Amino acid sequence: MATQLREPDRLSPADLVREDAVHRSVYTDPAIFDLEMERIFGRAWLYLGHRSEFKEAGDYVVRHMGKQAVILTLGKDGDVRAIFNRCTHRGATLCAFDKGSAPHGHQCPYHGWMFNADGSVRFVPYDKGYGERLDKGEMGIEQVRIEEYRGFLFGNLMGDAAPPLEHFLGHMKTSIDDLVDRSPTGELECGPYVLRHYYRANWKMTFENLNDTVHPGFAHAASVVSAKAVANEVGGPENIVPTIGMMMANGKPIQFFQDIDMVTAPGGHSYIGGHMGADYTPDTSDAYTASLIDYHGAEKAKEVLSVDRHLMLLYPSSFWHARYQTLRIMRPVRHDLTEMIGFVFRLNGAPEETYRNAIEYCTGANSAASPVISDDLEIYERCLLGNGFGEREWIPTSRGMDEDRERTNSHDRMPATSEGFIRNQFRAWADYMGQA
Ligand code: FES
Ligand SMILES: [Fe+2]
Repeated sequence: MATQLREPDRLSPADLVREDAVHRSVYTDPAIFDLEMERIFGRAWLYLGHRSEFKEAGDYVVRHMGKQAVILTLGKDGDVRAIFNRCTHRGATLCAFDKGSAPHGHQCPYHGWMFNADGSVRFVPYDKGYGERLDKGEMGIEQVRIEEYRGFLFGNLMGDAAPPLEHFLGHMKTSIDDLVDRSPTGELECGPYVLRHYYRANWKMTFENLNDTVHPGFAHAASVVSAKAVANEVGGPENIVPTIGMMMANGKPIQFFQDIDMVTAPGGHSYIGGHMGADYTPDTSDAYTASLIDYHGAEKAKEVLSVDRHLMLLYPSSFWHARYQTLRIMRPVRHDLTEMIGFVFRLNGAPEETYRNAIEYCTGANSAASPVISDDLEIYERCLLGNGFGEREWIPTSRGMDEDRERTNSHDRMPATSEGFIRNQFRAWADYMGQA
């Protein structure tokens, strides 16, 4: 006789996550999505922007924090502040553009109310119509708390109740350091090219895919074949662009990935070791290496170049690839719709070739036109569809459960084939979601 499983309480996170499995409704239930926006995206530090995006007072960018949009603007005092992108009059969106310059403040297109970079009301047209009834001091837009780590700006909707950013980043600071330390001047410049696409599936699919080293040999098999053919045509692996190298690495045997480390850290974060080898790209060309030695000294430069990490996942909203200076933000739109936004950073002072490689990698490996990403997007959609029917409720997450290599206070180490990063994400998920 079939055992009747107890119907999980759809909004009780403890019922939806087990040590070695997760209930499929976390990907398909709109009510869970709403709770995630409130309890995860309303509590975690979310990457918002980079200092180099703000040159002159009034320069602004619009970014999302879960369902909410915020405007980051550089004030005349040199501080970047974040305010909600919502007029306090009738609630219209203030800024329609992703970025721009508003040196005199942000003006609402509906009735012309104007707001300063700090959210205070600057001007209300025909304010005498309100008589004494309008207190402009009360009508300012709320600010969002932001903190900076090495030029990267993060926001937190909990305000003063949020833990410090550095506490949230923990061990993952080393992956941000990895990116910044690759600059031969210590400075980065966020490039003007923005890559964006949507996919029709749950936001967590990307998190569960990008450190999964078992899927590429299957999901991306076609691109492995193409990449090998290209490498042959151009005269061998030393002549190929970074994306082709990544595609070829996807075709390596599982044991290769088993030998690489995966590192997970509290908060749902993780990264895996690089699979291309330390000397793979022109990043290590003579001119670049010389400039890095000039800046850091020989010993530190060697240390910087020897770091070989693949994608760092900063739960719950961004993906960092220091080696190719790319950073993607993930914006959940609905339980079944997600937007990805990619940025490429220039290492100021590095040869132009390094920047070109980074752009090539971002478009070749991360855009919707990439032969790799198009595979993943289809898989995400298939998982959404497949988890929408049938009797089987639980999805196993137990791969590599007994294979941990090291546990420390700041991070754990395991084989890169482990699903330990997914289990780690769901520990963080249950933790955020369990706090009413
Ligand atoms: S809604 Fe913004 S000015 Fe009226
Ligand atoms: Fe993939």
